Amino acid sequence: MSFILETIVTTRGPDGSAHVAPLGVHVRGDSFVLAPFRPSRTLDNLLRERSASINFCDDVRVFAGALTGRRDWPTVACSVISGHRLQNALAHKEVVVDTVEEDGLRPRFVCTTVHSATHQPFQGFNRAQSAVIEASILLSRLHLLPPEKVQAELTYLQIGVDKTAGPRELEAWGWLMEKFNEKRNG
Ligand SMILES: Cc1cc2nc3c(=O)[nH]c(=O)nc-3n(C[C@H](O)[C@H](O)[C@H](O)COP(=O)(O)O)c2cc1C
Repeated sequence: MSFILETIVTTRGPDGSAHVAPLGVHVRGDSFVLAPFRPSRTLDNLLRERSASINFCDDVRVFAGALTGRRDWPTVACSVISGHRLQNALAHKEVVVDTVEEDGLRPRFVCTTVHSATHQPFQGFNRAQSAVIEASILLSRLHLLPPEKVQAELTYLQIGVDKTAGPRELEAWGWLMEKFNEKRNG
């Protein structure tokens, strides 16, 4: 059985810089499977470097930021691989690519963990965090979805934001709504 965790994956660019991208990682036993759609910088970096950090992060601004042009989050050097992890991750794993399952649309990188670390305690869920993640996914798939469906989902997600958001979720939601409005108005 496998399941998916919404994470922030950091890969090393050709110039050594950190590339930060939200990615749903498939957990398959002890392995993680990363499946970036073509074309993507994460995909190019994984093919070249064959390693990545998987960051577990409750600051949902990093998810919304990546979809709205704000990727400059602080990173620190990894412990084992040549790369970076998010500074504000609650925990992270450093993984190396074992095998690549080739695919014209969405290759799969099956990875093994070479290092795990916890940095901060988990502080609990709120509905606004999941609303921001869901709205970020909607934004990344806008070209595939009918506008009425997007609007209906945003109307529902707004309820969780209104009821539970803290400052980080409100800021992230604001960035997303600005972007949705921009796209709506052409
Ligand atoms: C929660 C979340 C999960 C995502 N999961 C994936 C994924 O599994 N594969 C993918 O290609 N894009 C995924 N995306 C979209 C990518 O983050 C986005 O396209 C990103 O820009 C990757 O491209 P890049 O490596 O060129 O930056 C996800 C977005 C969000 C918000």
